This record gives sequence, structure tokens and C-alpha cells, in this order.
Amino acid sequence: MRIALFASGTGSNVEAILQAVQETKLEADPVFVFSDRSDARVLEKAKNYEVQTYSFRPRDFDNKQRYEEALLKLLEKNQVDWVILAGYMRLLGPTLLEPYENRIVNIHPSILPAFPGIDAIGQALEAEADQTGVTVHYVDAGMDTGQVIRQETVAIDAWETKESLAKKVQKIEHRMYPETLQCMFKKAKKR
Ligand code: GRF
Repeated sequence: MRIALFASGTGSNVEAILQAVQETKLEADPVFVFSDRSDARVLEKAKNYEVQTYSFRPRDFDNKQRYEEALLKLLEKNQVDWVILAGYMRLLGPTLLEPYENRIVNIHPSILPAFPGIDAIGQALEAEADQTGVTVHYVDAGMDTGQVIRQETVAIDAWETKESLAKKVQKIEHRMYPETLQCMFKKAKKR
């Protein structure tokens, strides 16, 4: 499977995926990493794995459609099969969703549909929930609304801080995302 990874920030999940590929735990070919932010740390991380990187900003295009057309061109030119979002902070429009229907996935730090959108960990603490977790899901036009693929829960202890909870959640994410992708790609190959 030829995959492209989209991220806007730190890129710890992108790194976990690239690491899993390197360790042959995930059978995939990461073709490029894209960021909508040229200063995103994920771009540095990708270079350590010798993966091609691209970055351009939506505001340099006339509108969202033109921006996504440029992305689609990049995906098609590189014959990308699956798009993996990992901290990509934008909603996708039909220009990408239609040609890649059911081939775009995302990871979110909560048990969706609980706590969608930004700062899901803060939201869980604010709500005094006794558990939260991680969801891997297909991407649709909504905010974290696509069909759920896999979920894992984590307990929120009474003494939990945002930092401690984020650490627990991330630990799950870094194992769960490559594992889930491996499972999905195996199934897709059999079809
Ligand atoms: C992760 O928590 C992911 O679930 C969410 O954004 C965060 C990205 O973190 N969608 P990182 O950039 O992979 O470190």
C-alpha cells in the first residue's frame, strides 16, 4: 500500500507509523509526508526517515477547492492508495473525499462520538469523565464524524493532569495506529 501522511504539528504519530514501517511491523510504503504548515515539526521528523516531504498553505490558493486540487494532483502523481491523517487540523472537502472515499483515515484522542474537535483531552478532564481513549476512524466531511474502525479506552485517575493523561493517550495512539493500519491493509489486499 502506498500511503501519504498529512499532519499539521509535532508528528509523533507520523513518526510511530514510519518507525513501524522501518521495523516491518507495518507493511506499507510511505510515499510522502504533507503539512499545511511549513514550520511543522513533523517535516523534520520525516526527514530522519528519508521520506519525501511537501508543504504548502491553503491561503496561498484562491480557495479550498484549488488547494485540495493541488493535493489531489500530488496524491495521484505519486499513486497514493491511502491517506493517513495524524494531527492534520483541517476538514477535508469533496475534492479529496470523493476520489479517496473510504481510503482516508484519522486518529482522534477520545472515544468518539464523545469529545470531538480540538483539545479532546482537555474536554474529557473538564467533563470529569472517568475514562476516555483513542479512536481510529474513516474521514468524512464532518468533524471527527466518520465511521469508527477501532477504539481503545483509558482510565482517567482522580489525580490525572492534562500532561499525564496526554502521555497515556499518546502511548496508546503510537501502538494502535500502526496496528490498525496493518490490519486494514491486509484486509484490503485480500479483496
Ligand atoms: C494526536 O493526539 C491525534 O490523535 C490528534 O492530533 C494529535 C497529533 O499529535 N488527531 P502528533 O502531532 O501526532 O504528536
